[in-house]
Amino acid sequence: MIHARGVAKVYENGTQALQEVNLEVAEGELVYVLGASGAGKTTLLKLLLGMERLTAGELEVAGISLAKAQAPDIRRLRRITGSVFQDFKLIPGRTALENVALSLRVLGVPWSENRQRSLAVLEEVGLTDRVGSLVQTLSWGERQRVALARAVVREPRLLLADEPTGNLDAVSVGYVAAVLARAGEKGITRVVATHDTRLLDRLPGRVLQLEQGRLREVAGKEWENRP
Ligand SMILES: Nc1ncnc2c1ncn2[C@@H]1O[C@H](COP(=O)(O)OP(=O)(O)OP(=O)(O)O)[C@@H](O)[C@H]1O
Ligand SMILES: [Mg+2]
Repeated sequence: MIHARGVAKVYENGTQALQEVNLEVAEGELVYVLGASGAGKTTLLKLLLGMERLTAGELEVAGISLAKAQAPDIRRLRRITGSVFQDFKLIPGRTALENVALSLRVLGVPWSENRQRSLAVLEEVGLTDRVGSLVQTLSWGERQRVALARAVVREPRLLLADEPTGNLDAVSVGYVAAVLARAGEKGITRVVATHDTRLLDRLPGRVLQLEQGRLREVAGKEWENRP
């Protein structure tokens, strides 16, 4: 699903955010990307979604080559990808249900099916009693879970999640872990940037560590012993 060789990203201001990144992710896999603030986690996810362009190397996602991708290729990639970033990008003035349902509406899913699927996913993230609330009235952690629900409701082939448990308590971390596990049962490939070892405990996956833009695989539970 993901193939990266020697990927680098240098931002316009000269910041080298990623260098020599090699990564192979198989269909259906769960990969965690750990790393300190500024290590390049969000940058890596943005490259995978075609939101930022790599400056060196080769990167292929679902057979789409991102070094040379044109607008139609990026649109194709977006259609098969669900993503949650740190700013959520929810639509204010709309309810939690409307925000999630929009993701299926743009695909032309009829309202009765859309409503049923959207409510089911909101229940999975523990927000059944908030479905009718305007998103701007929700807590940060609730918004985070609406954003995750919106990303998974379409059952994308690839799910990219940036710190999906950043502000959540233990119970909510459990909801997120359950949603990620269920996505795995559906064969969805998942790349999750996180600092949160509670999530790794709940749902084991392959662990990669980013350090100053360089990515390496972490063996076993080595991450548990890091300082
Ligand atoms: N648009 C940008 N322009 C210039 N530099 C950027 C840009 N976005 C990120 N950077 C820089 O690239 C490096 C990696 O940033 P990135 O956001 O990928 O880190 P991160 O691992 O997601 O951090 P955090 O855990 O704080 O979210 C940092 O040095 C950051 O300052
Ligand atoms: Mg980040």
